[in-house]
Amino acid sequence: MALNPKIKQWSGKRVWIIGASTGIGAALARLLHAKGVQVAVSARSADKLDALVGELGKDRAMAAPLDITDVESIRAADARIAKAWQGYDLVVFMAGDYSSMRAWEIDLKVARQMVAVNWEGFLNGLSVVIPRFMAAKAGGIALVSSVAGYRGLPKALVYGPTKAALINLAETLYVDLKDKGLDVYIINPGFVKTPMTAQNDFEMPFLIEPEEAAREIAKGLEAGEFEIHFPKAFTRMLKTMRHLSYPLYFKAVKKFTKL
Ligand SMILES: NC(=O)c1ccc[n+]([C@@H]2O[C@H](COP(=O)([O-])OP(=O)(O)OC[C@H]3O[C@@H](n4cnc5c(N)ncnc54)[C@H](OP(=O)(O)O)[C@@H]3O)[C@@H](O)[C@H]2O)c1
Repeated sequence: MALNPKIKQWSGKRVWIIGASTGIGAALARLLHAKGVQVAVSARSADKLDALVGELGKDRAMAAPLDITDVESIRAADARIAKAWQGYDLVVFMAGDYSSMRAWEIDLKVARQMVAVNWEGFLNGLSVVIPRFMAAKAGGIALVSSVAGYRGLPKALVYGPTKAALINLAETLYVDLKDKGLDVYIINPGFVKTPMTAQNDFEMPFLIEPEEAAREIAKGLEAGEFEIHFPKAFTRMLKTMRHLSYPLYFKAVKKFTKL
């Protein structure tokens, strides 16, 4: 069911992707640009952003480096993009930090970085973007979470809870902002082959390429979906598991992960 307006025409839209130097974000920037979108790409790696903009061409692409853990750098990027393009229509919060961790492996430095990027970083970004969209009475906010946020999973000790928080956050944002004219999306990918998952030492079921993830995201945005999840064969199974009682859920996790 479409909880947001359908996007029938991408051409002329201005989209800011935060976390676009590699992986799904870079693939989404390429795809949306090919559809006629003006794309602003952000992340810490200015060299990678510049290379991406060089590939796309400066007329409809711009790099705005930032560190999502540093709100001042987000404010500066927001001001640059808004000045160059007289605002923007959609922000995709794609930045993410992941380290596999089990209960007996807690490393606070690593854990805090995941919280700083995946949770606090999103709050930093929202504190900049929401006032701009509220003033315009329009704008779209897409948060990239993960199916790891659906329920507790081994090896996702800190990553999983940060992603669960984003799902809850997106629901609250939708309730708060829908009547103000803003659109809110939550994006929950399954496993995607990117630098982030290259560290995984386990078999990743239904693994897809970043280009396919980008196509799914664009399709979901076009359809006006609130939750954009993929690949469906995997996410439908996980959604069913979401409704299992604790005894059945814990048994299923053990069986599927062998952990
Ligand atoms: N791959 C998967 O299987 C999968 C599954 C579910 C959800 N996701 C989510 O999808 C999103 C994209 O992940 P990916 O798989 O494409 O991984 P990726 O290639 O590692 O991309 C992560 C992006 O986040 C940026 N980033 C990290 N820390 C940042 C910071 N402090 N400030 C600004 N940008 C920062 C990175 O750029 P810099 O390092 O240049 O800053 C990069 O552009 C993440 O939110 C991830 O949690 C991925």
